[in-house]
Amino acid sequence: MIEKLTDSSEISFAKSARRISFSAIQPSGAITLGNYLGAVRSWTDLQRTHSCIFAIADCHAVTVPKEPHYLRSSVRNLLATLLACGISPDESLLFLQSTVSHHTQLGWLLECNTQYGELRRMTQFKSKSQQNENFGVGLFTYPCLMAADILLYNTDDVPVGTDQTQHVEFARNVAQRFNSRFGETFKLPEPMFPKNGAKIMSLTDPSRKMSKSSDNSSSYILLCDHADLIVQKIKGAVTDSGNQIKYIEGKGGLNNLIVIYSCLSGLSFEQISFEFEGKGYGTFKSRLAEIIVSEFEPIQREYSRLIECADYLETCVRRGAESARKLAQPMLERAMYAMGYWVP
Ligand code: TYM
Repeated sequence: MIEKLTDSSEISFAKSARRISFSAIQPSGAITLGNYLGAVRSWTDLQRTHSCIFAIADCHAVTVPKEPHYLRSSVRNLLATLLACGISPDESLLFLQSTVSHHTQLGWLLECNTQYGELRRMTQFKSKSQQNENFGVGLFTYPCLMAADILLYNTDDVPVGTDQTQHVEFARNVAQRFNSRFGETFKLPEPMFPKNGAKIMSLTDPSRKMSKSSDNSSSYILLCDHADLIVQKIKGAVTDSGNQIKYIEGKGGLNNLIVIYSCLSGLSFEQISFEFEGKGYGTFKSRLAEIIVSEFEPIQREYSRLIECADYLETCVRRGAESARKLAQPMLERAMYAMGYWVP
């Protein structure tokens, strides 16, 4: 099947009365169940209610060193993944951050309006810089670039997992400071979390968030994992020695599995308890693995098809860049003019 894209001018954000949402994801290998439930899945639903803008944050990706061939293939794979998950380039604006230089330009202006101490307090910077003493400066200024991403598009809502709360808060603060110094320029964005699944935890250490940067690959499920591997990882997920399927404060491992089940089945915690009454952890885990596999299998099939459509992916990138540049230009000029730049 040959994919066809609608003319990008048909995606008109300016004319729409809908709220504008912006979000982004880094290309760093296959996405996890955490990325999927905390962000990507809710992005597809948002397309019905919002004017959606989604970026592949490939400038953020190099704050941690990446081999060029790895970066190139990760970006391509992530693009095919997002499309396979249901992000529609006809309904939403989907683009690569690096193709719209306005992001790094506004990022610079925001860096010059940010205090050193403010960035030093960011928890993500503190934990990542502790892992490696020789980190690049980009890791430190990362929140300014992320703020630029959000502020360039007059964003109302930023759909993210809760691990991004501090970064969105920073974007609000820097916008507020800019507005009070240079005059009303930026809209103040609101973070938007999914009702359920805003923080999916590690399968092996439920006190930590599920993340593919973990050394233990059993701690996370990847969207591309084979069915048998998913079953194996869920079977091995840490729980206590009880046997009642019930969400109770303090039962981190079990609670995390119940949250995942709830996200994918649409059932409330109470309904899940009722469904598994008297059935034990083994039965629950088998059923959970099944619903993850049935959620992922159609996406994996669509991914395998799309990754072969080189021309289509190329067109998506080109069209996305053109549309995003058009949208970003007025806000960049406005911010530059406000600061005193000559904007011809
Ligand atoms: P990234 O690439 O780490 O994650 C992408 C999205 O996935 C969510 N997420 C999770 N949600 C629930 N449980 C988890 N275990 C989990 N792990 C990740 C994240 O909250 C995020 O929504 N800095 C961002 C990328 C970014 C961005 C932006 C986001 C760049 N510019 C502007 C929003 C707006 C990041 O590294 O996300």
